[in-house]
Amino acid sequence: MRSLSGLHPFHSRYWQWANILLGLVALQCALVASINVKGTAHEDDRTIARTTLTASSGIPALDNYTGLYRPQIHFSPPQEFMNDPNGLHKDAKGTYHLYYQYNPTGLVAGNQHWGHATSKDLYHWENQPIAIYPPTSDSQVFSGSAVIDSNNTSGFFPNQTDGVVAIYTLNSASAEVQEIAYSHDGGYSFTRYDGNPVIDVNSTQFRDPKVIWHEKTQRWVMVVSHAQDFVIAFYTSPDLKAWTLVSNFSHQGLLGSQWECPNLVPMPVRDVASGELIEHQDMYVLAISVNPGAPLGGSATQYFPGTFNGTTFTAIDRTVRLTDFAKDNYAGQFFYGILDDEDPISIAWASNWQYAEEVPTAQEGWRSAMSVPRRNFLANTPSTGWVLVSRPHDLRPVLGQVLVEKEWRAEGGISNASILTESGAVHLNVAVSGLLGSIPATSSLEIVLSTSDSQESLSCGYSFSDNTFFLDRGNTRGFQDPTFTSNFSTSVFPREDGTWTMSAVVDRSIIEVFLNEGVASATSVFFATQPLTSISISTAGLPSGATTKVELRALESVWRATGNDTARV
Ligand SMILES: *[C@@H]1O[C@H](CO)[C@@H](O)[C@H](O)[C@H]1NC(C)=O
Ligand SMILES: *[C@@H]1O[C@H](CO)[C@@H](O)[C@H](O)[C@H]1NC(C)=O
Ligand SMILES: *[C@@H]1O[C@H](CO)[C@@H](O)[C@H](O)[C@H]1NC(C)=O
Ligand SMILES: *[C@@H]1O[C@H](CO)[C@@H](O)[C@H](O)[C@H]1NC(C)=O
Ligand SMILES: *[C@@H]1O[C@H](CO)[C@@H](O)[C@H](O)[C@H]1NC(C)=O
Ligand SMILES: *[C@@H]1O[C@H](CO)[C@@H](O)[C@H](O)[C@H]1NC(C)=O
Ligand SMILES: *[C@@H]1O[C@H](CO)[C@@H](O)[C@H](O)[C@H]1NC(C)=O
Ligand SMILES: *[C@@H]1O[C@H](CO)[C@@H](O)[C@H](O)[C@H]1NC(C)=O
Ligand SMILES: *[C@@H]1O[C@H](CO)[C@@H](O)[C@H](O)[C@H]1NC(C)=O
Ligand SMILES: *[C@@H]1O[C@H](CO)[C@@H](O)[C@H](O)[C@H]1NC(C)=O
Repeated sequence: MRSLSGLHPFHSRYWQWANILLGLVALQCALVASINVKGTAHEDDRTIARTTLTASSGIPALDNYTGLYRPQIHFSPPQEFMNDPNGLHKDAKGTYHLYYQYNPTGLVAGNQHWGHATSKDLYHWENQPIAIYPPTSDSQVFSGSAVIDSNNTSGFFPNQTDGVVAIYTLNSASAEVQEIAYSHDGGYSFTRYDGNPVIDVNSTQFRDPKVIWHEKTQRWVMVVSHAQDFVIAFYTSPDLKAWTLVSNFSHQGLLGSQWECPNLVPMPVRDVASGELIEHQDMYVLAISVNPGAPLGGSATQYFPGTFNGTTFTAIDRTVRLTDFAKDNYAGQFFYGILDDEDPISIAWASNWQYAEEVPTAQEGWRSAMSVPRRNFLANTPSTGWVLVSRPHDLRPVLGQVLVEKEWRAEGGISNASILTESGAVHLNVAVSGLLGSIPATSSLEIVLSTSDSQESLSCGYSFSDNTFFLDRGNTRGFQDPTFTSNFSTSVFPREDGTWTMSAVVDRSIIEVFLNEGVASATSVFFATQPLTSISISTAGLPSGATTKVELRALESVWRATGNDTARV
C-alpha cells in the first residue's frame, strides 16, 4: 500500500519519479483514486464499505471525535480519508447537505465515494450513510455538485418539488465522464440515471462539474474542467440530461499543472465597512482550483471576478487572485439553494495535496477537515481592487463563554491567559482603532498561543508600518515534512477610518484567520504535540491615540464527548 501510494505524484520525495510518471498517471481532483492505493482488489474494499454501511442498522457507530487533533467545530469525516466537498446544497426544509470525496476504507485518497453529512446551522453536522457508491469495482465517483430540480425539468420527479440531482465525474482508467444521479428522498440515497454518461468527450482529464440554475436564460449552466488543458468548459442544459457546449474559459491567471473544481457563482457586491449592498452590479465569480503549482507549493484556489451572460464568462482583468494566503484551502464549493437575498456560502477542503496523505491525524483514524462555512461577497475598494471577501458564517451556534475581554491604549496586552476550554477551540477578535496620522516604524501586534509543557506555539502578528501580517506554524512539532512550510504572510492596510481588525478560529489542529472582516483570510492546519493552553497578545509602538480591543471566547464542540454517536458511515 505505501509503496504504491509512494508513487503519489505530489509527494516531494518522489517528485522526480513524478515528472516521469506525470504523463502516465491520471491526476484527478480525487487525485490518486485511479491507482488502486490499497493494493488489494476493489471488490474487497467495496465489501468492507458495504459492511460498514450496515452500521446504520445497529452495529456500533464508528466515529470518534475525541482526538488531540480532531477539530470540534469543523467538519471532519467519522473515520478514514476525506477530500473535496461535493454536492453542497440547502434543501427546502432548510437543511444543509455536505457530501465529500471519501475513501471509506483507507487513510489516503482512493476508492472514491460520496460521503454525506447534514446540518441545520452548518456547524452541527450529523453523519449520514454514504450517498453515492461507484457503480463498478474499477470506477470511482469523483467530485461534482448537486441541484434541487424543483420544476421537474429532468422528469425524474413526477410527484415532488424537492428532488435532488447530483452531477459528478465517473472516473475509470479509460475516461472521465460526467454522470447524473437522482434522489427521491431529499438527497440521502441516489439512483444512477440509465442514460449516463451525460457528457463524454473521450478524455481522461475532464472532471468536477458544478451546476447552477441561470434564471435569465432559464437554463442549467455547468462549468467543468479540462484539467490539463487549462480549460473550463461551459455547458448549458434545459433538463440536466442533454448538455450543449457554449464556451470555454482558458489559459488565464495561474495555470499550475492542472485546473480542477471550477465554480461559477453570482456574487453580490458590498461596501466592506458598512456591509451595504451595491445595487445593479450583476457580478459573478469563477473559482478554479490549481494543483500542483500553487505559489506556496501544492494546491490553492484562484478566482476571477467577472460577468456572465448565459454563455460566456468574461473576467474583469487578468490579475491572479487567491482565496487564501496560507496553504490549506482547496476545492472550495458554493452551496446551491441559497436564496438570492443571502450571500453565497462556501466550504473548502482544509488541506494541501503536498501532505494531505501524510498528516499525523492518521493515528486517530481520520484525515482532513473542511474549512468553516464562509459567507462571501465581492468588494471593490481603492486599496484592494476587486476582492472576494470571506467571513465565517454566523458563529453564534458554537460561540461559548467569554474567556478574556480587554481594551488598552497604545502599548499593552495580555500575558499567558488561559484558553483551556472543554473543546480546545476558541474564537479571537482583535480590533485596533485610532490608526490615523503617521505610524511609528516599530508599531506591531503579536499573538502567541502556547502549549503548557512542550514549548510549542502558534503565532501571528502584524506590522502597522509595513502592513504585513504573518501566521507562523513553525514552532509545532507533531508533523515534520519539507513541504509543510511554516510562515505565511500577506499585505493588508488599516481602513480609511483608522481601524484594523482580525479574527481567528482556532480549533485543535486548524486555524482560520480573517483580516479586516474577511478582505484577506488564511486557512492553516498545524500539529502541536500538546493542546494549546494559553495566549499572549501584545501591541508595541502604537501611536498614543490607538486603542486595541480584544475578545476571546470559547467555541463549543459540535460533537458528542464520547466515541459513541449515531453516525452510520
Ligand atoms: C422554475 O420555474 C419558474 C417558473 O417558470 C422559474 O421562474 C424558475 O426560474 C424555475 N426554477 C428552476 C430551478 O427551474
Ligand atoms: C415530471 O416529469 C415527468 C416526465 O416528464 C412527467 O411524467 C411528470 O408529469 C412531471 N411532473 C410534474 C409535476 O410536472
Ligand atoms: C415519487 O415517485 C417516485 C418515482 O415514481 C417514487 O419512487 C417515490 O416514492 C414517490 N415519492 C412520493 C413522496 O410519493
Ligand atoms: C478516444 O481517445 C483515444 C485516446 O486518445 C483514442 O485512441 C480513441 O480512438 C478515441 N475514441 C474515440 C471514439 O474517439
Ligand atoms: C474547448 O476546450 C476543449 C478542451 O481543450 C476543446 O476540446 C474544445 O475544442 C474547445 N471548444 C471551443 C469551442 O473552443
Ligand atoms: C455573450 O458574450 C459572448 C462573448 O462576448 C457573445 O459571443 C455572446 O453572443 C453573448 N451571448 C448573449 C446571450 O448575449
Ligand atoms: C477515540 O480516539 C482517541 C484518539 O485516537 C482514542 O484515544 C480513544 O481510545 C478512542 N475512543 C474510542 C471509544 O474508540
Ligand atoms: C507563557 O507561557 C509559555 C509557555 O508556558 C512560556 O514559555 C512563556 O515564557 C510565558 N510567557 C510569559 C510572558 O509569562
Ligand atoms: C514570519 O514572517 C514575518 C513576515 O514576513 C516575519 O516578520 C517573521 O520574522 C517570520 N517569522 C519567522 C519565524 O521566520
Ligand atoms: C452507545 O449507543 C448505543 C446506541 O444508541 C446505546 O445503546 C449505548 O448505550 C451507547 N453506549 C454508551 C456507552 O453510551
